[in-house]
Amino acid sequence: MSTDQWTISRSKVVYGLDRNDLHFLDIDEKGDLLLRIGDHTISFKEIAKLVEKQNGNSAGYTSSFTLRIPQLITYQMKKLKAAFAQAIEKTDYKGEFNAVYPVKVNQRYDCVMPVLASDPNYGLEAGTKAELFLIKSVTEEEKHRLIICNGAKDPEYLQSIKQCVEEGYNLTVSVESLHEAKMIVELLDPDKSTIVLRIKPYLMVRGHWSHSAGRDSKFGLSIHDLFDVIELLKENGFTNSVTTILGHVGSQITAMDDFLKFSKFMTRIYYEVREMGLTSVKTIDFGGGLPIDYTSSHPPDLMNQYADALLEGILSELDEIGGDIEHPNILTESGRGITALGSAVVVKALEVRSVFPSSGQKISQERQQERDRCISEMRETTSVAELLELWNEFHSQHGHSTGSVKDLLENEYLIGDVRREVRRQLARISTPGIRPEKLVESIWHPDYLAIGNFSVFNAACDYVLVNQHFPIVPIQDLHVRPETTVRLVDITCDSDGELSQFHRKGTGEIWWSRDYRPLTMRTDDMGQGIPVGYLKNVQGSYFVIALTGAYQDVIEADHNLLGDLPDVEIIVTEDGEWKIKWTAGAQKMEDLLADAGYVGFDIDEDPYMSD
Ligand SMILES: Cc1ncc(COP(=O)(O)O)c(C=O)c1O
Repeated sequence: MSTDQWTISRSKVVYGLDRNDLHFLDIDEKGDLLLRIGDHTISFKEIAKLVEKQNGNSAGYTSSFTLRIPQLITYQMKKLKAAFAQAIEKTDYKGEFNAVYPVKVNQRYDCVMPVLASDPNYGLEAGTKAELFLIKSVTEEEKHRLIICNGAKDPEYLQSIKQCVEEGYNLTVSVESLHEAKMIVELLDPDKSTIVLRIKPYLMVRGHWSHSAGRDSKFGLSIHDLFDVIELLKENGFTNSVTTILGHVGSQITAMDDFLKFSKFMTRIYYEVREMGLTSVKTIDFGGGLPIDYTSSHPPDLMNQYADALLEGILSELDEIGGDIEHPNILTESGRGITALGSAVVVKALEVRSVFPSSGQKISQERQQERDRCISEMRETTSVAELLELWNEFHSQHGHSTGSVKDLLENEYLIGDVRREVRRQLARISTPGIRPEKLVESIWHPDYLAIGNFSVFNAACDYVLVNQHFPIVPIQDLHVRPETTVRLVDITCDSDGELSQFHRKGTGEIWWSRDYRPLTMRTDDMGQGIPVGYLKNVQGSYFVIALTGAYQDVIEADHNLLGDLPDVEIIVTEDGEWKIKWTAGAQKMEDLLADAGYVGFDIDEDPYMSD
């Protein structure tokens, strides 16, 4: 395929759109990015235009914004229930499936309320006393909803739990240590309380949060604690209060055989605690861990595979144990899997800066000769190693000028020209595949910085904290072969304030940008640089950072006094019209300063708060 041929379906592959967990993003024939909700498609250009128009004069307008898409929270909840319903039917499973949403994953009103509105029987999980207060207030009229109280408990937390039970909330308290068990038997009434035993999953699992499992995990009862806790509970009349066992193996578990192992482990415990006399234990709570496909590279039916793995684990373990054992009910506490799709950060690019000068700059005759000699040698090379050797040699001779600034400038032109040629030749030689080693990556490194009006630390903090990948898509020019790639940097004064990681899909033969940067790879791989259609259109346009609905709102940091972006909810009416609802303005300077202790200070008028 020549560099000029391109199709929209190729762009969809490059950005991972219209499939898996990015099924709600699509491209129209003009190359504009679309948001798809049910049968409706809405152009991001239109959304951004409307946000600018409606709110240009309103309090808290900052040009970038967070788009709230509650319909996708509902979608995920239904999908999860359907996945378990299918798995249950397939295996003729006798237990029930239920779910709670752990509010720690996103406690915002515009996240928790859609969860409650989507399903009258969905429960909530609290990880702290503060979260319990939140849950209490939103379920006051719906006390039938299951509330699981996890987390370290102090006497005040337990007192609040006791009060909730007395007020008629359907609450189950977890026991996570012997100390907690002692407090519980002293404070709670065994006839009114239900208890879940949280157990450390003694397993090795893969992924960033693998330390949530195993003996060293911070959470739950070790096996030796479990025996002591059970004895204590029995001695104090709590035998029938224990209804559930809980384990959480960590977040974003993409290896399904880890869930299978985990399920077998939990099922063995389920069987054994019942044998020890806790016959009221009827439920296994599998915690969270359900993954999101941030790279659009996993199988599309990940949620079904998750449900299948848990059921297979239970059934195979029960089979191994033998006898007629009651199938446990299944409870999950998925958070990421429920809310990640529910928001996207829409970032306006304020300007574009270039790291290297453009081609065609005038240089001295001597340098021209140097350049042309090197370029013609490069054109003759037949191996990547040979090419890189030529580049290394050239770079070591010309890369470090010690002369005048004028000399430095000419060297920049020179190096820029030869570097461009190396990319072109890399594409020639390396097709269909190349191993992206460090030196090669440095040659592909983007030449352009798009300055986004946002803070990575506030909008997508996990990118910096745990190297979490987020898909990023420009909202226009998606119908053409991308001209180049850019680094999306924020306006904080921190070098880490940058979102440039891009997942290159495995397409066998590499697809190149017009300036010969790889857009895909032979096999899946992570690289630097967000592809853009036409560089000249980037300034003033927007990038969408998708799948930010889980955790990012909660762990945000106010680096450089850059707080929350404004929030805009998308609403689709029954008659197919769409509108936006401005749910919150950007965080006020006054509030940010108050957090830093500047209460009652006379600050100048906040330019963003023009109401
Ligand atoms: C006990 C418990 N349940 C559920 C979750 C949510 O996990 P995820 O976001 O992976 O669904 C967590 C996350 O830390 C947790 O600790």
